[in-house]
Order: sequence, then C-alpha cells, then structure tokens
Amino acid sequence: MNYIGSKDKLSKFIKSEIEKIVGEMKDKVFCDLFAGTGAIGRAFKTESKKIIANDIEYYSYVLNQNYIGNHEEIEWREFVGELDNLEGVEGFIYKNYCSGSGSGRQYFSDENGKKIDAIRQKIEEWKNAEQINENQYYFLLASLLENADAVANTASVYGAYLKQLKKSAQRTLTLKPAFFDLNEAAHEVFNEDANSLINKIEGDVLYLDPPYNARQYGSNYHLLNTIAKYDNFTPNGKTGLRNYERSLYCQSREVANIFENLLENADFKYIFLSYNNEGLMSKDEVEKIMKKYGRYGLATTEYQRFKADKTENRNHKAIGTSEYLHILEKKELR
Ligand SMILES: C[S@@+](CC[C@H](N)C(=O)[O-])C[C@H]1O[C@@H](n2cnc3c(N)ncnc32)[C@H](O)[C@@H]1O
Repeated sequence: MNYIGSKDKLSKFIKSEIEKIVGEMKDKVFCDLFAGTGAIGRAFKTESKKIIANDIEYYSYVLNQNYIGNHEEIEWREFVGELDNLEGVEGFIYKNYCSGSGSGRQYFSDENGKKIDAIRQKIEEWKNAEQINENQYYFLLASLLENADAVANTASVYGAYLKQLKKSAQRTLTLKPAFFDLNEAAHEVFNEDANSLINKIEGDVLYLDPPYNARQYGSNYHLLNTIAKYDNFTPNGKTGLRNYERSLYCQSREVANIFENLLENADFKYIFLSYNNEGLMSKDEVEKIMKKYGRYGLATTEYQRFKADKTENRNHKAIGTSEYLHILEKKELR
C-alpha cells in the first residue's frame, strides 16, 4: 500500500541498525507502537520471540491483525474465490462514494464501489454465522482494504478524489490475498493510543514511528476506516469524511511533551525512533529529550522521497530526504 511514512523501503536499514545494537532477536519482544502497514513488525516477525503491534487507526489494526497476528495456516482459497465472483450491490460505499449513485463523490468507479459493498457485507455475514473465524475475518478484510486502495480514484490519499476516473481506478477490483508469514509464536495486536498502551505493555525493543508532520492519518485514510468498520454514519462535506482521531503527534505545540511522556513510561530497554529532517521536532530537540533517559545514539540514511503529482498518481517529483533513526538505551525501567 502506498502509505504516508511507510517504512517498507527503509526496513532493511532500520532492521540492520536495530540488530547492530540489540544483537540476536529470537529471545526478544519487539514492539511496533505506531505500526501503520506493519512493515517493520513484519521484518522482525519470524525472528523475534513476540511482536506487539499497535496503531490508533482501525484499518491499520485490521492490517496488523492479519500480517502480524495471523501466524498459522488458514483456509482461504474458496472464500477469496467466492468473494471475488460476487455480484455488486448498492451499499454504503456505492451510495456515498461513487458518482453513479448521485453522491457527488467519485472515490471508486461504480462497479468497484458495488463490488466493495458486496465483499464487505459477505465477510460480515460469514463472521456472524461463524462460517469464518477471527483469523480468516482479518485476512479477508485486509485483502479487501489493500485491493480497494489499489483501485481508489485519488492522487494518493483520501483527502480528495479525482474528477476523472484515473486508469488504475478503471480497472476492476480483484481480491488478491493478503498473505502473511507463518511462525510458531503468537503475537499481540492493539488499536489504542500509544501513550495509553505504553503503560500496559513491556518488552525489549520499542520501535517508534509516529507521524512527523501535521497530516492526520484519520482524515487522509478515512475511507479505509469506513470500509473496515462498515458502520452507519452521515458522511460529512465534499469528501464524505467521518469523525476521526486527532493525533497529538501531529500538533507542533503538543508533540515534544507527549513524546517525552512516552519515553518516561516505556518499560523497554532499547528504544528506536524513526523521524526525518522535515519533522515537527528538530533532530536536536529529539536528542535533548532522549538523552534525559539514558545512552543516546543516531543513525542516518539519505533517500529519495516521491511527492505525488496533484492530478495523477504518477509523474512524482523526487525529493532528497534524511531519515534519522534515534537510538536510546534506557537507564532505568519502570
Ligand atoms: C509514519 S506512520 C507509521 C508507518 C509504519 N511504520 C509503516 O511502515 O507503515 C505513523 C502511524 O502512527 C499512527 N498514529 C498516530 N497517532 C497515534 C497515536 N497517538 N497512537 C498510536 N498510533 C498513532 C498513524 O495512524 C500512522 O499509522
């Protein structure tokens, strides 16, 4: 998924820097507290004793329940086949986010909007009838979210839709399975505010990848929450927004305080923070806060970030960015 701040491309760098400091991971509990797509938890999943994954957004919880929480074989083939061949229905997504319904919005083609509704309703029906278990439920939902996102008619996020259906949005949604890695150990997945969850968990390695600017994930990805929750509400305004979480990590006046609060309450020996040079907190500010709690270090890598073109999801502009991995070996644990 094309996700703001995804560490998919940086996962090799982050993993090797973490392993340099921490060593063998097989007896360690690794926590990805702002997990997003789950890219970093996934990089450690088969090698750690346990992964704890968390994100405040429900769509991310669904992705992590699948990619991290699921770790044993499940039956999926006939369910995916049946879902992919369903006839479309005029449900909540079609009625509110497709132009054919007269909604005035065009986040999906009419065909794909109806297909999303049909698949989403069937998954819930199977779950209620206990025809699928929780593991299958999250696997199927994650598959739907990722494939719906691939045919969304947006420049990159759901803050706006495009006037014309772009090429990728004209393609018919196909339900490609969201395969996950198998492993023996069970993991834990949460859907909570990081600063509240930190008081209830403990482990060895804490990886932090909070938002680094003012863009709220809840508004930028509102439609993924709407598909994942499939609840009934009145979509708001031109973009059909739902009520959303406002993260304090996106607020310049709040971020330093809550970041420090997180460090203070963390019962983890090693803490790593991904943040880049365009963040609300400066590199020096982060260093000053982290140094209060133990031994500090820094690893840096340069990479090309691609800025989405306003009208199409291509012709991106490349921008050179420095990605920092701030490192803290905590002196005293809770
Ligand atoms: C930079 S993204 C993480 C990207 C992730 N590492 C990846 O590779 O996909 C930041 C994430 O923090 C989540 N978030 C924001 N505020 C939060 C909070 N207070 N508690 C937990 N998660 C939060 C957002 O929903 C978003 O998924």
